[in-house]
Amino acid sequence: MLRLEESCDVEVYQDGPEMPADQLLQRVRGKRGLVSMFNNQVDRRVIEVAADLAVIATVAVGYNNIDVAAARERGIVVTNTPDVLTEATADLAWTLILDMTRRVTEGDRLVRRGGWKGWTFDFMLGADLRGKQLGVVGFGRIGRAVARRAAAFGMRVAVYAPRPPREIGTAEPMPLDRLLATSDVVTLHCPLTPDTRHLIDQKALARMKRTAYLVNTSRGPVVDEAALAWALGSRLIAGAALDVYESEPAVRHELLTLENVVLSPHLGSSTIETRTAMADLAVRNVIAVLSGQPALTPVP
Ligand code: DGY
Repeated sequence: MLRLEESCDVEVYQDGPEMPADQLLQRVRGKRGLVSMFNNQVDRRVIEVAADLAVIATVAVGYNNIDVAAARERGIVVTNTPDVLTEATADLAWTLILDMTRRVTEGDRLVRRGGWKGWTFDFMLGADLRGKQLGVVGFGRIGRAVARRAAAFGMRVAVYAPRPPREIGTAEPMPLDRLLATSDVVTLHCPLTPDTRHLIDQKALARMKRTAYLVNTSRGPVVDEAALAWALGSRLIAGAALDVYESEPAVRHELLTLENVVLSPHLGSSTIETRTAMADLAVRNVIAVLSGQPALTPVP
């Protein structure tokens, strides 16, 4: 922020979780740069009223909230914050994998409501990870970082990516159907695009093993939440852990009532170090573009 103020006039608008669309429309007029969060919808209407805009810098790696085509038509540079959040997001995915398979949050709820009656041999059994298969859907930076950590837990890795995945190491590339049918934990790391919306639907969930778990730290709409609630409720899969939701911050009521799902409030990149690095990168992108330099991390 300080760095931004040294080179431009700055107006801070967002003091709550989400800015209503009409406010964004009002406030973007006459501005040269826009620093936006992943939950600001920067659609064609916003881009069209912002005739002076040169750069939109989203403080996130995902940029499905920005109409990049509309921006490009108007010569507006769109930037995101890749790399700096990779490790924090991969750590969160593993936090959820461990929590879900060892039932930590479920146990915490039990303890808090006074329901724990004491240790017994077969009490709250979870699932081992060692020797099992981690299915990674999407093999960009975050998918690769999640896969790298699998060796520490003795898991083998299967990968599904629409294009031939890079830096695959010992991981095995697979078609999605096979990955779903053979993995013990499926973790989602693809961007939200028209092709990935509801990639995990009723049919996909029905392909998974009854003992398998699903983790989503990518974008909520990659999973059909109604279908997931049905699959969890009917024990078609063993469990799930979600960090992202179809209509954040709303969480589908059925999910709130199920024991076999861990729900975290979009914490993927939320560490002090990572959020600082994300903000810093977004600011450096704005300054670069406004001073006639190429952006550091333009969206592909
Ligand atoms: C991202 O970077 O896409 C995150 O979801 C926002 O924290």
